[in-house]
Amino acid sequence: MQYEVVLPAAGSGKRMGAGQNKLFLYLLGKPILAHTLEVFERDDRCTGIWLAVKPEERAFIERMLVEYGITKVKGLPDGGAERQHSVHSCLKAMEQVSIVLVHDAARPFITHDIIAHLVESAHDYGAAIAGVRAKDTMKKVSNGIIEETVDRESLWMVQTPQAFRFELIVEAEDVAEKVGFLGTDEAMLMERLGHEVRIVESSYENVKITTQEDLVFGEAILHKRALEG
Ligand code: CTP
Ligand code: MG
Repeated sequence: MQYEVVLPAAGSGKRMGAGQNKLFLYLLGKPILAHTLEVFERDDRCTGIWLAVKPEERAFIERMLVEYGITKVKGLPDGGAERQHSVHSCLKAMEQVSIVLVHDAARPFITHDIIAHLVESAHDYGAAIAGVRAKDTMKKVSNGIIEETVDRESLWMVQTPQAFRFELIVEAEDVAEKVGFLGTDEAMLMERLGHEVRIVESSYENVKITTQEDLVFGEAILHKRALEG
């Protein structure tokens, strides 16, 4: 089943503290953004890539596309002040498709397998998000004091990609924009409208490169994959 992907890439990477967009940092000799783009370039089911970018970074990113042989990019609209605005900007630029994936450009380790499960789930049920089971015991804390131990069985840590039927995510984004609601992910916008969102079990390797130590984890994952062939 085919899909197009929206990759928000217009952040500043403040928590990385590198003084530039963290997506331009290298993992084993290749920019994080190029790693992510290659996953979708090589996935036969992906028929188009939409990248939300900062206007002042557009030319640099366009050169990166040429350098790494990325041919599927259909548009690089301006990103916005918040991630949700960047995603919206891509959705507005797109033609209608059946399934759209929204994936953080800062998660370069997503696999074709997990993507395929998400796309199928979105096709069958409308909306799906990647997640992993919580590993640690979770406590609800208030003012530094534990209120309760939360049942771990029901707790998932969500990631991206998220996959949606196109008309559902467009509706959810439009409503959110009208009422000025800002969610941390697009699934939240769907939940608000009462749409079911399915969890697809993902991998602990699908980390978001956020802080300095994630660069070390990221290179370790690449080494492991190189060994596995
Ligand atoms: N993003 C975006 N537009 C924004 C903010 C974020 O397109 N206004 C993108 C980032 O480029 C990243 C993804 O959304 O690929 C996830 O965001 P995050 O990991 O928070 O990245 P940054 O916002 O760049 O980092 P920070 O929050 O530390 O500043
Ligand atoms: Mg951010």
